[in-house]
Amino acid sequence: MRAYYFDNLPGDQRLQHNSGKSADLDDLRELGVLHWTIPLDIPGGWEAKIDEVAAQQGYKNRDTMNVTKEGLGELYESKLKSFFEEHMHEDEEIRYILSGSGFFDIREHPSDEWIRIHVLPGDLLVLPAGIYHRFTLDELNQIKALRLFKEEPKWIPYVRGPETEANPYRVNYINSLKGVLVA
Ligand code: LAC
Ligand code: NI
Repeated sequence: MRAYYFDNLPGDQRLQHNSGKSADLDDLRELGVLHWTIPLDIPGGWEAKIDEVAAQQGYKNRDTMNVTKEGLGELYESKLKSFFEEHMHEDEEIRYILSGSGFFDIREHPSDEWIRIHVLPGDLLVLPAGIYHRFTLDELNQIKALRLFKEEPKWIPYVRGPETEANPYRVNYINSLKGVLVA
């Protein structure tokens, strides 16, 4: 994992877009974003380690997603487009990278800057409910990831806009950054 501020320059979303200003785990943690490295060749196997983290964090469900032209077929272009549209969810977005790579862009609050997170195999990334983010493949053009969920996955992206600003999960997230106690 490597994180840095996005350069906001136009051009292919799959390129690095590195502004030269790096971000670290503390910057991510302040936004409620968590990261663990679980090497795929960890003694005992990554599955056991993921099971452990999942039990600890209450991630009850999981599936695998394969983002490649072959994996998505006809849905490829439309999926990639929707992944890169700024959105939030009412659940945590939890991804363990099995192969390939990609970029998760997360919105810093209140600066509204993008922090770009380059994920590689062995990265476990958790985005909190309510954070604005987007995803793109990089130039490798493929990623395979385990998706973990607390509940049954009802995977709805809420695109940024006035209505989403009023979403209770969004409001809760913003309050959590202010240190307001949330239920
Ligand atoms: C998702 C990623 C693309 O919602 O943010 O699955
Ligand atoms: Ni998402």
